[in-house]
Amino acid sequence: MNLMDAIENRRSVRTYTDKKVDRAALEKLFAAAVMAPSASNSQPWAFAVIQDAALLKEYSDRAKSHLLAGIGPDSPLAKYRAMLANPGFNIFYNAGTLVIVYAKPGGPESRGDCCLAAQNLMLAAHGHGLGTCWIGFARPFLDLPETKSALGVPAEYAVVAPIIVGYPQGRIPQLTRDEPQILFWKG
Ligand SMILES: Cc1cc2nc3c(=O)[nH]c(=O)nc-3n(C[C@H](O)[C@H](O)[C@H](O)COP(=O)(O)O)c2cc1C
Repeated sequence: MNLMDAIENRRSVRTYTDKKVDRAALEKLFAAAVMAPSASNSQPWAFAVIQDAALLKEYSDRAKSHLLAGIGPDSPLAKYRAMLANPGFNIFYNAGTLVIVYAKPGGPESRGDCCLAAQNLMLAAHGHGLGTCWIGFARPFLDLPETKSALGVPAEYAVVAPIIVGYPQGRIPQLTRDEPQILFWKG
């Protein structure tokens, strides 16, 4: 797959087959992630994997409760209240694999760098026939001190990108995007 194909045809995947993503496949994604640029080449990322279905279900439920408790009337998440209150809604879409990209402290632009690594990871997954979806709903819960402590993650590491990974079921049509807004173009 060439680069423009990957960029234009990657989609967020929310339906997966039962086929497990093996360690070798995930290691290829991490190898691609760490090729991302980073400020001062600080490489401020660390990765974690959860493939325990019971733990993912538990974390989905706890992440929903955590979000619902914090949604005020003016919150941008207010429109998701009913979805999050639905006991049948799994924020990880029952995917078998969750990758978490953490930003380590100390880098000048750690979170931005980790977003670049996450995009590399998602494009590489697409190139290897895997689907991904960034699950922002999971971030506040995963970033709680008690969640990090339970997972053995240093408190000063920040969750940037929870990303589900799996083998896509079916094809998702390409999305159109708004035209790029060019604010200025001098010279
Ligand atoms: C920071 C971020 C958070 C996101 N959080 C969620 C999420 O919690 N649940 C979900 O289903 N999709 C989530 N997405 C996926 C977006 O909905 C998706 O990227 C967008 O609709 C464009 O679709 P595409 O990725 O197929 O091009 C998130 C994407 C980003 C970049």
